[in-house]
This record gives sequence, C-alpha cells and structure tokens, in this order.
Amino acid sequence: MTGGHILLKKSPPLTGTVEVNGAKNAVLVIMASLILTDGLSTLENVPNNADVRQMIKLLEELGATVNFAVASKVMKVDTADVCKFEIKPEIMNKFRASILVMGPLLARFGKAKIALPGGDLIGRRPINYHLEGFKKFGVVTERHDPYVNASLKSFHDLPLYARIILEYPSVGATENLMMFACLAKGETVIINAAIEPEVLDLIDTLKAMGADIQIQPAATIVIKGVGKLHPVTHKIIPDRLEVGSLLLAAAITGGQITVSNARADHLDIFLEKLCQMGHEVTSPLDKGSCAKPYGITLRATQHPQAVDIKTGPYPAFPTDLQPLTMAALSVAEGVSLVEETVYENRMIHTKELSKMGAQITVEGCKAIVRGVEALYGCEVIASDVRASCALVLGGLVAFGQTKMTGIGHWQRGYDKLEEKLVAMGADIITIDDQIIILDGLRTAQKLL
Ligand code: UD1
Repeated sequence: MTGGHILLKKSPPLTGTVEVNGAKNAVLVIMASLILTDGLSTLENVPNNADVRQMIKLLEELGATVNFAVASKVMKVDTADVCKFEIKPEIMNKFRASILVMGPLLARFGKAKIALPGGDLIGRRPINYHLEGFKKFGVVTERHDPYVNASLKSFHDLPLYARIILEYPSVGATENLMMFACLAKGETVIINAAIEPEVLDLIDTLKAMGADIQIQPAATIVIKGVGKLHPVTHKIIPDRLEVGSLLLAAAITGGQITVSNARADHLDIFLEKLCQMGHEVTSPLDKGSCAKPYGITLRATQHPQAVDIKTGPYPAFPTDLQPLTMAALSVAEGVSLVEETVYENRMIHTKELSKMGAQITVEGCKAIVRGVEALYGCEVIASDVRASCALVLGGLVAFGQTKMTGIGHWQRGYDKLEEKLVAMGADIITIDDQIIILDGLRTAQKLL
C-alpha cells in the first residue's frame, strides 16, 4: 500500500463550461440545524464529500435517519427520533464542523455532551467564542476530557434578552449561537456577526423553518425566539470556494472557462484580484444588479501580474482561497505580498510550493511571493483541504510529474473536482490505495 495520491502532469490551457456543487460550508451547518426540527426535511444540491459523510454519521449517531441520493444530490433527513445529546470523540474529532451541533442540541435537550472538534492544521481553532456566547444564555460548561459537558439550568430561566458581542466575526460561533437563539425564549442580538454567504444560506433555511431573524447594519443579527421550528426543503447555494478553485485552474493554465452557476456577488474581492492580475472576468453583475446573478467567465491573460492580497472575514478576501491564489501568484510577473489574518498557521503550503520551485519567503503571517517562470513537478504533501488544491494548481503548470499525497484532505472538501478538471483538459489521475478511481488522459493499464 502506498496510500492515496494524485498524479498530475503539466496541462494544456483548461477550457469549458462547468457547474459547481453545493457549498460544503453551508450544507454542514444546515444539516446540523435540522436537529432544531422534528420530522422530515429535504436538502437539495448536496455535495458528496468526506465532511458531509461524517455529518451524516453524526446525525445518525444522534438518532436521525438520513437518506442521501448522491446522483440526484438530494438528502432527506428525518429528525423525529433524535434522542441523544452525546457525541463520541471519534466522530467529533474527524471534522471541525461537528461543533455546530452544540447549539441545536442545547436548544433541543437543554444539554450537550461533545468532544473538541477536529479539522485542519491551519491554526489552534479554539471554541471560546462559542462557549462565551452560550454563557450569556445561562449555559454552564464543564470540561471532563475528552468531553465538554454543556447544560442549561432550565429552559424556564432563559434570559428574555441576550446581547452577544463577538470579539471576532467567527463563522462557526455566529452560526451556533444563532441556531440556539432561534428556539430561546426572548430576543438575541449578535454584534460583529459573521455574514459569509454560507451564514446567510443558514439564515434563509432557518427562516423557512419559521425562525424570526433580521440582519441589521453593521453586521448585527437579531433573532427573536420562536416556540417551534418545522422541517424544511432547501437548496444549498453554489460553492464559492469551488468556483474560486476552478477559476484559478483556468487562470494558472492560461485557459478560458465559464462556471455557469457561480455567483459573482459571493466573490467580489477575489474576482477583483483576478482582474488586477490581468485576467478578464465577466458576470451578469457587470451590467448592474439582476434577478439571476449566475455565471462567471474567465479568459486568462498569458502574462499574469503580481497582486497583493490580505485575507479577512467576508466581504474581505476569503482565507480559504489564499493558498490557491498563492499558487497562481507564484508564476505571475512581479512580487506579491500575501497577508493571512484569519489563521495563524495558514502558510504550510508555501513549503510545498517552494519544493516545486516557487520563490516564497514567509515571515509570520505574511508571505512575499516572487513570481518565477516555471514550476517543476515533484512529491508534495497536502496539509489541509485548500492546501491540497493549491498543490494541484501548481501541478497543472509544473513541468514533469507532480505526486501529491494527503489525498484525504482533497476528498474532505471537494466532490470529485478532479473529474471537472479532467473534463476541461487537465492531466490528473487520482489513486486511492492502488485503486484507480479516476482515469485522466491515460488509461489505467498504461499507468500500471
Ligand atoms: C469556517 C469555515 C472555514 C473558513 C472559516 C473562515 C466551515 C465548516 N468552515 O470555519 O472553511 O476558513 O470559517 O472563513 O464553515 N476563533 C477563535 N475562537 C472561536 C472561534 C474562532 O479564536 O471560538 C478564531 C479561529 O481560530 C480563526 C478565526 O477565529 O482564527 C476564524 O474562525 P471561524 O470564523 O470560527 O472559522 P470556522 O467557523 O471554524
């Protein structure tokens, strides 16, 4: 056994029209939110990645019945028999989004017994904002390793008004606290809330369940507790991070693609930076606001220029597209400054890109990228979901062959993105413990 890996060769300019899947970061929290309801809900446009499969396991562990028709992307979740409020550490620590069941469990049972969540190596990723926020509702938490026990004194004693000020607009803390607040007694105000498109998709879902939620300027979410939420049918928004990955794949190879269901209004600054690099990016929004803002086309320049990027909470540059953009900047003309402000340890991919010939100097959370003429294939290791895509992008332009291990990260976040890249002309083969699960431009026989 060699372990799973991806083999890539320098690819021609990628061309074509593709669609992206539903957003991983939206579907995970929306699946967790179904614990707030009692009955059968339907989610449409659900991606089939490893994190989604973990969330299915988690919901089943709690007593839910989940039926996922992968081909039609429809998931049915029946929460009528959810009867447990405890989740085993071996399920919790498989993925970060597991923490998002804490708010719904507290709202349903008044208690939750969870372990600390797992996830990427990109930073410490504590849950103090979640716990401090729950404290405002009177939730008491005690740590008995590996568990965190959280409980409400009683539903009766819930405050009539809770004002939660987030020191940082944490996506997960906003989502967790908001879900709890939907079934709390009084009014909850979350100040400095995260307003990522995935948070807004959760809000749409909760409102369709009967929740009373308003967004006020600037980044304040006001929730009035309602007695009950009902099951829902909801279509998950397109994955803006998959859109970014595909656009960058076309950009780095000098190609031209259209992502037909992409929403430009979810990616404003990212698209602006692609334009500053010299790429031509068009969307229906160029002609003013419109009812159907779907579709982004990128025509790549053959001479991409360096640009500076600085990540931050939405609507700033998304941290999850930083490693991928850095791969593209490593072959741009000039010197780029890349500043990471969301995670303290999201520069691990720079070491691997450097192995391929990129000229990157890292100082703390800043990286100076000096564009080079070419990258060269070698063995690289993916350290998280987005780092894996950065290395795949590097491999698409590198001379020779690139072998990327750590394929589990790729599979955690992407639903067969490699198939879309191959359809657009990329030379990629995915090998999962000697079983070839995708045949690129060559055949399995030739490879073996
Ligand atoms: C979500 C996304 C992830 C994305 C991130 C930022 C999901 C499943 N994942 O992660 O892809 O990169 O938003 O856009 O939706 N923090 C604390 N204490 C807390 C919570 C967070 O210090 O209690 C810190 C984190 O360590 C991190 C920063 O706040 O440095 C942002 O984290 P957060 O917005 O909470 O990210 P996640 O919800 O975990």
